[in-house]
Amino acid sequence: MCGIVGYIGTQEAYPILIKGLHRLEYRGYDSAGIALINGKGTLSVYKEKGKVSALEASVAESDTSGTIGIAHTRWATHGEPNATNAHPHYSQSKNLALVHNGIIENYKSLRTMLEKNGITFCSDTDTEVLVQLVEYMQHSHNCDLFTAVQLALKNVIGAYAIAIIEKTHPDRLVCARKGSPLIIGVGKSDNGRAEFYLGSDATPIVEYTKQVIYLNDEEIASMDRSGKLEITNLSNVKQTPQLVTLQLDLDQLEKGGFPHFMLKEIWEQPNALRTCIRGRLNVVEKDVLLSGIIDHKEKFLNCKRIIICACGTSWHSALIGKYFIEEACQLPVEVEYASEFRYRNPVIHPDDVVIAVSQSGETADTLAAIQLAKEHGAFLYGICNVIGSSIARATDSGTYLHVGPEIGVASTKAFTGQVITLCLLGLAIAKEKKTLSDEMFHMLVDELQQIPDKMQWTLENNKHIDQFAQMFTYCKNFIYLGRGYNYPVALEGALKLKEISYIHAEGYPAAEMKHGPIALVDEEMPVVVIAPKRGMYDKVVSNIQEIKSRKGKIISVVTKGDSVVRGMSDYSFVIPDTRDCYVPLLAVIPLQLLSYYVAVAKGRNVDQPRNLAKSVTVE
Ligand code: M6R
Repeated sequence: MCGIVGYIGTQEAYPILIKGLHRLEYRGYDSAGIALINGKGTLSVYKEKGKVSALEASVAESDTSGTIGIAHTRWATHGEPNATNAHPHYSQSKNLALVHNGIIENYKSLRTMLEKNGITFCSDTDTEVLVQLVEYMQHSHNCDLFTAVQLALKNVIGAYAIAIIEKTHPDRLVCARKGSPLIIGVGKSDNGRAEFYLGSDATPIVEYTKQVIYLNDEEIASMDRSGKLEITNLSNVKQTPQLVTLQLDLDQLEKGGFPHFMLKEIWEQPNALRTCIRGRLNVVEKDVLLSGIIDHKEKFLNCKRIIICACGTSWHSALIGKYFIEEACQLPVEVEYASEFRYRNPVIHPDDVVIAVSQSGETADTLAAIQLAKEHGAFLYGICNVIGSSIARATDSGTYLHVGPEIGVASTKAFTGQVITLCLLGLAIAKEKKTLSDEMFHMLVDELQQIPDKMQWTLENNKHIDQFAQMFTYCKNFIYLGRGYNYPVALEGALKLKEISYIHAEGYPAAEMKHGPIALVDEEMPVVVIAPKRGMYDKVVSNIQEIKSRKGKIISVVTKGDSVVRGMSDYSFVIPDTRDCYVPLLAVIPLQLLSYYVAVAKGRNVDQPRNLAKSVTVE
């Protein structure tokens, strides 16, 4: 939530910052702003409500020269999304400009203290408190910017990633983080000196350098135009930066000919999942190799239960993981909304394994949930997509999805990547615990290997959804139903539709309908039923009958060759046959396409739906 970009070096900063903001726009798009110090030592701040393109248009005639600058794209938390509340914020003297990602919890008391000391505020934001506090520290302690930031942050409660520049010292960019991500890119300018890039993630940096430093919590960095980089903690103890090489390519951040990132990411799923299982699933030896498990085998063999913490789509994949692990490993698994878990005094034992599932690896609630589990001595395992993310670094072990960057706000390939990773994890534990027969284990390994090809088939055979989706743009509500492994798919299908088309949708276990929700069904109500010819097929057929007799419109996801449910349905999407436990990996695809095409038909901004941001770094 909120994206930060920064640059100091010998190049013009503006094009780097604007391009960076475009790359980070998925993190928030309520407003955007930029601060630059030009060659004459003028510090200019430009900001605009709305998207980065609005900012670009508004500065078209302005002086955007300068080789140092910071920029921000905002997802509003405090104060309405207007230009005044947009970042960067000036300090009172206009000598400092600061951008911030996170929430300052004690901003009210800090603001009162600063106001008592004669400081006047221009905005309603918690962020302005930070920049005023830093300047107040500079004046009251007669110290430089770096020390003032240290002093200021000692008084701050909350989460932050900040970048700050100073008019009177245009050769230095200072940044700090706690709870919100910040990455420093180390490049080389023409004269061979280091130049520095800053980003909330690697996407604004990778075009210029692959050498990065992930700032740790409570670290402050000063980047000097001469190439000097200094990092300390809040107590001024020097920290040794670790240079890491990014595993990210620029073309992964482009739409590649697709109209939206979401559609590109839906179509990427077969290949993304091939990459995810590569080297981990060995069909020849019939083996599953997850180094994160192998290295900590005892933890998984000795634990009495697994707790999975996640939010949103990741929570849905976690639920599928629960069903799989419980079935394959005979091990109890609890799935928790991280936001609830962290505040309700849950029982956590030192012999619990707590798994965090998160695409971004930055979700504030999920991060806090595992921090709580750590305090109770549990073993922490992370399933993240973003390499080097906070959750990946806070856990004892883990597995990356390796599905490539997901940029569309609606999660698609991360969902299937998470499901398949949880299946791999379940298989790896089952193998160690010997809870599956060899025959069953081999069969599950073989079938998992087939899934990317079956996904490809599903995509190719459901292209018609674009024409079909038009018919549903008038709908105000949708119901999604599934049983067993497909209940979480129903939840996921409903979430996808809600978040990008803004049509109200609910997912239910199919048999729960008669306990209340069936009262909603009439001839206006589309009911999407996931009805593969597997497991509880007959029961689902009965559930469809119940809806049909109330005149609901049935949209079904059926197994290739099934004419019964097809015959009962108004519309059907076909998927290939697979084991029950892997059906979600295929059944979710038509639901992703359905929500995508309904949203497009309604003229929605699919990649950047209203009120949302990709990475929820505030609670
Ligand atoms: O990065 P995470 O997986 O931790 O994010 C969790 C949710 O915020 C995320 O899945 C959200 O629900 C998506 N917008 C769903 O498409």
